[in-house]
Amino acid sequence: MMSFISYDEFIKQIENCKKCELYLSRTKPVVGEGNLNSKFVLIGEAPGKNEDIYGRPFVGRAGEVLNRALDEIKVDRINVYITNVVKCRPPKNRKPKTNEVLSCLHYLIFQLMYINPLKIVLLGGTAVKYLYDESFPYKKIPKEKKISEIRGKLGNFKAYDRSFQTYATYHPAMILRNPRLYEVFKEDLDMYLKS
Ligand code: URA
Ligand code: SF4
Repeated sequence: MMSFISYDEFIKQIENCKKCELYLSRTKPVVGEGNLNSKFVLIGEAPGKNEDIYGRPFVGRAGEVLNRALDEIKVDRINVYITNVVKCRPPKNRKPKTNEVLSCLHYLIFQLMYINPLKIVLLGGTAVKYLYDESFPYKKIPKEKKISEIRGKLGNFKAYDRSFQTYATYHPAMILRNPRLYEVFKEDLDMYLKS
């Protein structure tokens, strides 16, 4: 069973994973990085071009937005844990397909069980769709949710017998497209990561 393996073993499993077609186009999988004892896990969508090259989450343009917001609210990036819904880059940065998410999700769930955070911060529509107020295994495929309607409101992600507090905000790439959202994005992170 997954829960009896070490984190290093877990990383090796992802490096060798061929459970969905995204393994075909990845350079490096992006497991995640940060503090495994953190109270906070931040979850994006999927690795992009730079993440795929370096094997690290949020190291491209979206990462710069996230880093800037964390700096400004005085949260040290190394003190939180940052990962994604899927661990390999989808071609041309398309959204991960449902079957890819379902193939990969047990890795994220292992991480949540291992880290046992106080709060999960969902960055953008994909993380929100699958993790905000959902219960895994799913009875039906989760639906998209409007971030503008749920930001600031406590949600709950249940996985088997475990339950996690979830909070939603925009994806940093959305801030690049719509810079006026930067201030609310930063306020959301400030609110979620300060307790
Ligand atoms: N976008 C994401 O969703 N995750 C990353 O790691 C980088 C960009
Ligand atoms: Fe495996 Fe996830 Fe990568 Fe698919 S995206 S190959 S399930 S690690």
